[in-house]
Amino acid sequence: MYLLGIETSCDETAAAVVESGERLLSNVVASQFDIHRRYGGVVPELASREHLGAIVPVVRQAVEDAGLAYGDLGAVAVTCGPGLVGSLLVGLCYAKALSLAWKVPLIGVNHIEGHIHAVVLEQKQAGREVEFPALALVVSGGHTHLFYARCTAPGDYHYQLLGRTRDDAAGEAFDKVAKLLGLGYPGGPILDRLAPYGNPGSVRLPLACMKGNELDFSFSGLKTAVLRHVRAAAMDEEIERRRQLARSTSRPTVEQLLVLTPQPTLDLIASFQQTVTEELLRHALRAAEEHDVRSMIVSGGVACNSRLRQRFTREAGPWPVYFPSLSLSTDNAAMIAAAAYPKFLRGRFSDFSLAADPSLSL
Ligand code: KG4
Ligand code: ZN
Repeated sequence: MYLLGIETSCDETAAAVVESGERLLSNVVASQFDIHRRYGGVVPELASREHLGAIVPVVRQAVEDAGLAYGDLGAVAVTCGPGLVGSLLVGLCYAKALSLAWKVPLIGVNHIEGHIHAVVLEQKQAGREVEFPALALVVSGGHTHLFYARCTAPGDYHYQLLGRTRDDAAGEAFDKVAKLLGLGYPGGPILDRLAPYGNPGSVRLPLACMKGNELDFSFSGLKTAVLRHVRAAAMDEEIERRRQLARSTSRPTVEQLLVLTPQPTLDLIASFQQTVTEELLRHALRAAEEHDVRSMIVSGGVACNSRLRQRFTREAGPWPVYFPSLSLSTDNAAMIAAAAYPKFLRGRFSDFSLAADPSLSL
């Protein structure tokens, strides 16, 4: 069974074909990086407009790359939330049109569930199964969620939210701190590449203490602590020099950035990354202990972070930790097609009243 996935929840127009939830046949992602870069973040209006232009060729490419014809596809899966409403609507409308024209079922997928299934897909592709119940940490620019994930019968997945961010998502914190330091957008990959040159133990950055649910996260105070540090250290000149570089070069090299980044700033970056990583790991370990899970899943854009991968892999104790490959960690449509396959098997189809829900929960 060939399933077409469509993902347009934020700033990537993506389409992919997955065979029977276990074999990735094509994965096309059209990035809007160059459009949003100059604004230092995603501009929703521009994102929807770009999706409109990209959606038809991206889907065509995905079907072509899979070596299939439109008539071979057995269902169309699409992200219906959470995300930017205008962006979601583009994918949703096109998916409905395809479902109607091809006379195949339409399946609405929660983007966050998609991130979890990126891992399930790749493990299946390698001939392995993720052990459930699992602790699933989804960390991206929009979400920082901890779930207790169960699979009670083949294809029957259930998720219990154990903790979430009360303010900024982890990826958002990376992006905001990078912007503050004049390092360009998106910040996560840039800070990841610079952090190894700094001392992660040099700057103490306090984290909010959570009242109520101790598995919740808060990253906005961390960003303020970095801002305070930047002000106290009078870093304006070096920040301006990096801003100029970020404006003139879309992807500055580490060497270019290092020339403009003194050691104390590298130490600050390393300390920031260390603090975020530590917090994510600490919560995940605690949740895993409390809920008697058999494995851990870490997914979403921030799961690309090399220090995060290293620490989870080394320090997750008795639990095997599963990450998606880098290309399936950030937004893609393979994860949407993968999450839809169990729904297809169980006949959980959507009708044409399926609506975009910007704050859809899992
Ligand atoms: O999953 P994703 O592509 O989109 C959302 O659903 O938000 O995640 C994008 C986020 C951005 O905030 C980006 O800075 C962050 O993931 N990110 C990283 C890394 N690569 C991407 N954060 C830390 N380290 C990285 N290597
Ligand atoms: Zn995402």
